[in-house]
Amino acid sequence: MTPSSSTIAIILAGGIGVRVGLGMPKQLIRIAGKAIVEHTLEALEASPLIDEVLVMMNAGSLHELDHLKTDPRFTKLTAVLPGGETRNDTTKLALAALPDDGDAKVLFHDAVRPFVDERIIEDCVTALDEYDAVDTAIPSADTIIEVDEGSIITGIPARSRLRRGQTPQAFRLSTIRRAYELAAGDPDFAATDDCGVIFKYLPDVPIKVVAGTAENMKITEPLDIHIADKIFQLQTTSLTSHTADGTDSLDLSGKSVVVFGGSYGIGASIAEQAKAAGARVHSFSRSATGTDVTSRKQVRRALMAAAADGPIDYVVITAGVLSIANLTDTSKKRLRNTLETNLLAPAKIAQEAYPYLEASRGQLLLFTSSSYTRGRAGYSMYSATKAGVVNLTQALADEWAESGVRVNCLNPQRTRTPMRTKAFGEEPTHTLLDPEHVAAVSLRLLDSDLTGQVVDVQVASAKR
Ligand code: CTP
Repeated sequence: MTPSSSTIAIILAGGIGVRVGLGMPKQLIRIAGKAIVEHTLEALEASPLIDEVLVMMNAGSLHELDHLKTDPRFTKLTAVLPGGETRNDTTKLALAALPDDGDAKVLFHDAVRPFVDERIIEDCVTALDEYDAVDTAIPSADTIIEVDEGSIITGIPARSRLRRGQTPQAFRLSTIRRAYELAAGDPDFAATDDCGVIFKYLPDVPIKVVAGTAENMKITEPLDIHIADKIFQLQTTSLTSHTADGTDSLDLSGKSVVVFGGSYGIGASIAEQAKAAGARVHSFSRSATGTDVTSRKQVRRALMAAAADGPIDYVVITAGVLSIANLTDTSKKRLRNTLETNLLAPAKIAQEAYPYLEASRGQLLLFTSSSYTRGRAGYSMYSATKAGVVNLTQALADEWAESGVRVNCLNPQRTRTPMRTKAFGEEPTHTLLDPEHVAAVSLRLLDSDLTGQVVDVQVASAKR
């Protein structure tokens, strides 16, 4: 089966995540459109240094990962096996399932550390050429104190020599097997990780420490879910850190883009740049094609017209309305129109577009505004609908994950568009984003494999 000196990654996913407290194994929580364990699997699969990946999954939820076994993205995944009662039991079960090649390099990695990167993996694998055991750790910002049962300090070790242990922990297979064999004979065996087993039972084996990263955090407490979400969001900054001509290298030939709201502003720039990148573009708007996005019938007709020309890969909705007035001064008609255009229309278009996007495994791209995080006086209903769009994005990304349809949302800061000028009047140019820049980021987002993301585009990133 496995050729000698291969490198095998074992994802430890046998836990429940009591501390996160969501009533489901925390490695199955979806962040950025995918289960946490799936992000971790992607990171290990992507490493050229890893030959094979084994997932040790919580026994009660084993079937939840069935679909990954046949997923063409995971060519290195050889098995999903049940984990044990404790983390160390899970490691033992993994060791029992591994081949008889003592020279093999094995990396144990927590399923709930999805931000492991290629540099860390490479450092671990390379260190195994010289050492039989390797840990990953970062310095501690906090002073670590030792206490007794009565919460009285019994020691304050020098912080400069303290590290916080992470994973991967990497070993020569024969070494970690030997340590666990010795531990099996100890009735008082207790450990929380695998390096601890080496340290205790094979004290002569030096354990090399490679540098981890702050991002390689373990999702442990409820707050960590929010932090992880933010880290995924920050990783999308690479999409936004180019100038407006950043689509030069983008090739969308053979792809088709449908834009609702494509006659001016960001929508028009997207249509123009997508065409320049070789895509077939179908642009719909009230002024150019008489398409009212609040009408399901008209949306359906528009999509059918676009589909007559071939599969639809991307659907972009930039249509929206913004009017400035306090809620008590807003007419019933305007109130309803804001809701129907900004929130109901994206939901209707999503419903109508789904069959096309399912067939192409495509992407739906929505637009929000920075007011989604905090409602703004003077345009309360607009802010509320934009918060709704973000929720719609995240929920649909989850609902459509298995059919491979991606859903993202762009959050451009103030952008120089006719809609904005009409609402806020003339503003200093340097405080506004160019619609061309926002369009360039949109197209890079369409071309990415991200899903469930809210991508911020800020004025500073455009002017860099
Ligand atoms: N783990 C495992 N088998 C177990 C327990 C834990 O493989 N029986 C894995 C977890 O799935 C996780 C990693 O070890 O990827 C780190 O453990 P921890 O954060 O403590 O996870 P849980 O045990 O799931 O969390 P909690 O202690 O809050 O229940």
